[in-house]
Amino acid sequence: MSKLITLTIDGKQVSVPEGTLIVDAAKKIGIDIPVFCYHPKMEPVGMCRMCLVDVGRPVIDRTTGEFSQEEDGSIKIQFAPKLETACTTPVSEGMVVIGASEKVKLAREDILEFLLTSHPLDCPVCDKGGECPLQNLTMGFGPGESRYLYDEKMHLAKQVPLGELICLDRERCIQCARCVRFQDLIAGDPVIGFYQRGRALEIVTYSEPGFNSYWSGNTTDICPVGALTTVDFRFGARPWELNAAASLCSHCPVGCNLTLNTRREASSGGKMVIKRVMPRQNEWVNEIWICDKGRFGYHYTEARAERLTQPLLRKEGKLTPVNWEEALEVVANRFRQASTHQEEISQSPNENGLLILAGGRLANEDLFNLRTLAESVGGQTALYSHMAGGDLVAQVGLGEGSNFSDMGAGTTILVIACDLEEEAPIWWLRVKQAAERGATVIIANPRATKLDKSAHFKLRYPYGGEAATVMAMLNTFSAKRPNLPPAYGEQVMAANGETMQKLARSPELQAAAQAFANAENSVILYGSEGIGLPGSQALAQACANLLISTNHTGRTNNGVLAVWSRPNEQGAWDLGFQPRNNLKQTLRAAKALYVVAADPAGDDPALAETSDFLVVQDLFLTDTAKLADVVLPAQAFTEREGSYTSGERRVQRFYPAVPALPDCLPDFKIAGLIGQRLGLDIETRIPSKVFNQLAARVPDYATLSYARLAEVADQWPVVGREDLYYGGTTYQNRQGLGVQLSPSAQRGELTAMKWQEPPNLPESDDGLLAVPITRLYDRGQTLKYSALLARRLSPACVILHTTEAERRGVKNGDLVQVQFENASALASICLNEQVPVGVVLVPRSVGIPLTAPQWIKLQLAERVKA
Ligand code: SF4
Ligand code: SF4
Ligand code: FES
Repeated sequence: MSKLITLTIDGKQVSVPEGTLIVDAAKKIGIDIPVFCYHPKMEPVGMCRMCLVDVGRPVIDRTTGEFSQEEDGSIKIQFAPKLETACTTPVSEGMVVIGASEKVKLAREDILEFLLTSHPLDCPVCDKGGECPLQNLTMGFGPGESRYLYDEKMHLAKQVPLGELICLDRERCIQCARCVRFQDLIAGDPVIGFYQRGRALEIVTYSEPGFNSYWSGNTTDICPVGALTTVDFRFGARPWELNAAASLCSHCPVGCNLTLNTRREASSGGKMVIKRVMPRQNEWVNEIWICDKGRFGYHYTEARAERLTQPLLRKEGKLTPVNWEEALEVVANRFRQASTHQEEISQSPNENGLLILAGGRLANEDLFNLRTLAESVGGQTALYSHMAGGDLVAQVGLGEGSNFSDMGAGTTILVIACDLEEEAPIWWLRVKQAAERGATVIIANPRATKLDKSAHFKLRYPYGGEAATVMAMLNTFSAKRPNLPPAYGEQVMAANGETMQKLARSPELQAAAQAFANAENSVILYGSEGIGLPGSQALAQACANLLISTNHTGRTNNGVLAVWSRPNEQGAWDLGFQPRNNLKQTLRAAKALYVVAADPAGDDPALAETSDFLVVQDLFLTDTAKLADVVLPAQAFTEREGSYTSGERRVQRFYPAVPALPDCLPDFKIAGLIGQRLGLDIETRIPSKVFNQLAARVPDYATLSYARLAEVADQWPVVGREDLYYGGTTYQNRQGLGVQLSPSAQRGELTAMKWQEPPNLPESDDGLLAVPITRLYDRGQTLKYSALLARRLSPACVILHTTEAERRGVKNGDLVQVQFENASALASICLNEQVPVGVVLVPRSVGIPLTAPQWIKLQLAERVKA
């Protein structure tokens, strides 16, 4: 712990760690020194001078080296002739800071008068009005009148689009550089900057498309004026008209805390609608940031024309609207028959009664009721996912109390098979920041990703060599692997060829392995780049083995994280849902199939042939729903209450923000109503009661309750309604920080190493190896309804190296027919020099049915016009 320094600010004494800035020391004792350019999450620059204070320091007697004393025995303080900026001046022992003097008051008045010389009188129409630091600080510290003539104000462009998401009002900019610094230092995307000087200075974007960053929305939160606004919210509402509901992001496993601002409005027929999505502070999860997918990707919940709004029953071959009674009765009857069938065929491994296939967007309460339903009728459950390892995360996942913010020197982080910014943006940000604090980052991936900039070691294995790479790291300290079958490593190396052998022997891998093993704390994040389910199982197991054999389990800031593609896949694993390797056969073998929040037929037409009786429960009429016998309309997460378990196994609550669409029900309730018709005692009324039952049945969740998940604690930096100037418009967290579960290794339950062979790909003479990758802006159910992000969505494309394209006679933009084992698809060619030759990358969820590596052939379908 660093040395404590004691100083006095406006008569109050405070002790803070050495190196603390005056502005933060003041904040800790409730004294607000006004700031514009300073932001507690960024290095200070001292540009605006709003934070000027009078600073006095003890006079040191040169002969004794002690503080000199006044005649009355008090310490002699000497004040500097000029005021100093509180945001750049660190505290020192015995310092005396005065922020309430006449001199400081005049300085603040001058700065505000100066800032307002060319600021427009826009407050009545400005989006920031009501939560604007300039407005608030002018009211608090301004001169009350200006000597400047209104007619002499300089007028500048008021609607400058910086890309299609963010708009700049040049007149309002006070040149604080918060936005530019955020993009450069925090987001790592320096795509905006200052152009020109003096009053002509303006913010410009250097990228194409404009403001090309997944983080752009955060600049609108921290801009201290209404210069930067989101196109989504611009002129949409006044801040004081908005309600605020606590929520969670539903797009990835990070579990970012959100606030959904809503308003009832005439243009929506008097309905309550979401006006904007804001970050809610949780320093253990997302700090005060969210990515643009989390901010702008909610519109699918409001796609009223496309949302399912009543149950549908297939009658004479057509899906026909019916009431809930009729739909549930049909479903219950058929499930009853399937359960009877289950008893008859219980000896047959190739037949099942009821199978519930659930997706990772479901809340814990939904999954618990679905599991109860399946268990009660002798049915089975499955998770619709291309990733495995949730059971291992429950054993050797991040220890309770872990926080990326505490990771720095002494920590090693291995990120494997993952393009982290595309798959879980906030984790990318937090790993990058850990590297900046001194953590050692090892990136293992066949191609370069943005996180490479933060990497100390880059391990380039060939696609298929994911688990083998981890095994090779483990093999470098073979003395620590008592249970390793001797042939395992060698077999895997051989299967992955020369490149893999070279990598395994390379000094870089050896050094990375040592850095991992010798670190005080080590963490692994594994993703699903280039692998299907069997590959993912092998990789997860190899990661767990590496952690166990290097003694990095069962402790805070140690363990493994799976970079799932859905918000609650870890919760699904915790509740017993697991993906199936042979999904096609599993679906066919079921007498009745209940698909909830998943669209297997949409992802892969080969999965369209299913069981005798198909029920689909979803928000939209998906491709799978179109084949169903019964379709049940579910509520979106914005319309209901529930809980998710994040990838870090933090269980968190979300709350309803808008009324549900008519006739849509929450998933847990629908499952419960079906169960009740089958004579089961299932809770359908309120999710807190379902959660209590869950906690009583699932040991890892035993100590949890909704009340506990809603507990909060003090957080630093202080943000919130009264402190807008300081941290931006991020919402203070008053609704719950959630609870991180401990992995079994932390509870002293020993986990043994096991071995899982990675799958081998068959040989191919001329084929190209197509591997799936994940992109943040895919064309899945959530983003395809977002008009705002439409231009940024990934096209249906295959991505390959120029050399490979030349070899195949195709050019950038050409349309090609991609021939898979059992399917084909049209895709455009996209060239990228980072892709290994002999491989094509296929983004998931863009309409190309690839869920695992496969040899493919490309055939030119249409030449791009020159
Ligand atoms: S746009 Fe906003 S954040 Fe950026 S420099 Fe101007 S006032 Fe500061
Ligand atoms: S990082 Fe993930 S959870 Fe957070 S806002 Fe982005 S998509 Fe949502
Ligand atoms: S100079 Fe201190 S806040 Fe700007």
